[in-house]
Amino acid sequence: MLKAKIAVFVSGGGTNLQAIIDSEKRGELQHCELSLVVSSKPGAYATVRAKENNIPFVEINIKDFQDRKDFENEVLKKLHEYNIDIIVFAGFMYILSAEFVSEYENRIINVHPALIPSFCGDGFYGLKVHKAVLDYGVKITGATVHYVNSITDGGKIILQKAIEVHDNDTPVSLQQRVMCEAEWVILPQACELVAQQIIESRNNIK
Ligand code: GAR
Repeated sequence: MLKAKIAVFVSGGGTNLQAIIDSEKRGELQHCELSLVVSSKPGAYATVRAKENNIPFVEINIKDFQDRKDFENEVLKKLHEYNIDIIVFAGFMYILSAEFVSEYENRIINVHPALIPSFCGDGFYGLKVHKAVLDYGVKITGATVHYVNSITDGGKIILQKAIEVHDNDTPVSLQQRVMCEAEWVILPQACELVAQQIIESRNNIK
């Protein structure tokens, strides 16, 4: 069976990328294969993970382009070159245009470190999310994997996992638990779910 090809977009440490790599190694990804890593930040540790695991990667820095359109065209060129079916935003700290997103409608997914629709949208990323959770005093948080549309964190939810907030949590301790117990669990699962749908709809058309 031809598997759906995944490109993971990163900007930082890439622990979610690592979770997908590990899941693939454990044989959990039956319908997809990790085919490309796209980093928006030169030197991001995520690219070391790609290199160590023999996954092709490209660094595409927006600062090297005159405008956003040129940057996005370069990204699209790479995606076409590698025949990518699914894009996974895993700590990708850059918002792509509505035109770009519409090229891959229902084929871009994002992991967000809270239970959407809480603590999400513009300005909610990384540790800021966990700080806001603690400031508000909610007792349950978690992670969400959702489709990407033109609204920040606004696309349909694919999977969520809840985590308890502890009284002595700091933003860093909470981030670590949300990643370890929620993000790294549901992101590979969501990749497989979306890939399965794509492969099955392809088979139905044939
Ligand atoms: C993850 O916690 C991810 O959910 C978050 O950035 C971190 C990236 O870590 N993304 C957002 O906040 C997007 N709104 P990683 O590079 O180690 O995977």
